[in-house]
Amino acid sequence: MTLPEKPDRTDEMLRAVGAVAVETGVPVYAVGGAVRDRLLGHPVLEIDFVVAGNADAPAFAETARRRLRGTGYTVFERFGTCSFLVEPYKLEFAGARRESYRPDSRKPEVQPADLSEDLARRDFTVNAMAMGIRKSDFGDLIDPFDGRSDLAGRILRTPLDPLATFSDDPLRILRAARFAGQLGFRIHPDTLAAMRADRERVRIVSQERLSDEILKMLSQPVPSVGLRILQETGVLEIVFPELSALTGVEQRDDFHHKDVFEHTLKVVDNIARMTDKPLLRFLALVHDIGKPQVKRFVEGVGWTFHNHENVGERMLKRVCGRLKLPNEYLKYSRKLTALHMRPIQLIGGDVTDSAVRRLLFQAGEDIEDLMMLCRADITSGNPRRAEKHLKNFDAVTERMREVEEKDKMRAFQSPVRGEEIMELCGIRPGPAVGRLKTAIEEAILDGLIPNEHDAARDYLLKIKDQALADPPVKTENQ
Ligand code: CTP
Repeated sequence: MTLPEKPDRTDEMLRAVGAVAVETGVPVYAVGGAVRDRLLGHPVLEIDFVVAGNADAPAFAETARRRLRGTGYTVFERFGTCSFLVEPYKLEFAGARRESYRPDSRKPEVQPADLSEDLARRDFTVNAMAMGIRKSDFGDLIDPFDGRSDLAGRILRTPLDPLATFSDDPLRILRAARFAGQLGFRIHPDTLAAMRADRERVRIVSQERLSDEILKMLSQPVPSVGLRILQETGVLEIVFPELSALTGVEQRDDFHHKDVFEHTLKVVDNIARMTDKPLLRFLALVHDIGKPQVKRFVEGVGWTFHNHENVGERMLKRVCGRLKLPNEYLKYSRKLTALHMRPIQLIGGDVTDSAVRRLLFQAGEDIEDLMMLCRADITSGNPRRAEKHLKNFDAVTERMREVEEKDKMRAFQSPVRGEEIMELCGIRPGPAVGRLKTAIEEAILDGLIPNEHDAARDYLLKIKDQALADPPVKTENQ
């Protein structure tokens, strides 16, 4: 077995903490992901330390912080852990402990334990190794579950009976799927079977932790690996039923449609090759979420998903709320899901400038992201067809650039401003001013008048009496 051991700055950092351990006589070990990643030769930025032998972890951490000139000292009372930064590393210290969730509780119970029990209560054997950091034992592994062999064999397996490990913290069911993607490991069949059997337990995990894990899964280079495992184990149906519902292919006569779940996974993997932006990766995951609701078979035409973008947009309000995602996820994913079919409609020679302008205006600063989604959305297995679609989007992008250049759309607003509207119409500040301004902007977008002050003023004078007399029309978004 040859595993790369890389003496980089991580080792320097570990030795520096080891020196403090020697000086204070406290038994301290590196544990978890840092030990795993160091052995794999992956970069390490966060290092967890276990302060063993019943020693006072916060006291040790404070001494280490002073010696290493750490910054940002933080204590997490509830978990008995402390952390600080020594750029670029984040160091976290905890006493040896066991943490578990009782069947009826959402709050973990933390109890002191010895080092071997601390390791036994961790999630996977490859994460359950401790490493000596003092000069005398530097690099020595305490590896009671043979995590090193699993590292070499690229296997994720729980240290204890998987049902016990998952019962201690059911979030680990999702973590297994995420690590399978992150590390490129396969999940041991017993562990996989327990993920399926114990899946209902994920319901006791707080939504914030579940959503955090889903976003971590999306941040992987190939997010589909973890997502597919969640689907196959039935976990996705619990944590994200709207996505799970995308699975399946229906056939009528000679027509079948694509499996929308498989298509979505391809789109997510495509976008992951293009950008790390978490919002855009989430958008790729949910952009077709409305399809099952609108799926229809039309005789002679085949399967249609008419209006799925608007149904999806409406669903996202509930979905993002339930996932407790930050508000920007809601705003961004709704807006771009609603718009994601629009660039396709701009393909072809007979598209007017005003149609292009309208989309530029509605997408605003997110137009590049929208076009990136459209490109990622091309999942045809036929390379010639895929190439053709890409070329079409190149042409749309070029057209947008031309129109944009023509009238500097991004800074676009009515050339007649609020003050002047009030003066010309003899009205006071109020919603009518905004309505008139929008009417001018719409006329410019529709190409009725040029984007110039005098034309806009004349147009306003022409429509003002009628516009002020008509009651405002409510749109769906109001
Ligand atoms: N751990 C665990 N169960 C959890 C979370 C964490 O047993 N639900 C343990 C594992 O030993 C893990 C360590 O705590 O290695 C640190 O957790 P975390 O920082 O979340 O993961 P890493 O393994 O460090 O991996 P990554 O940073 O890639 O997420």
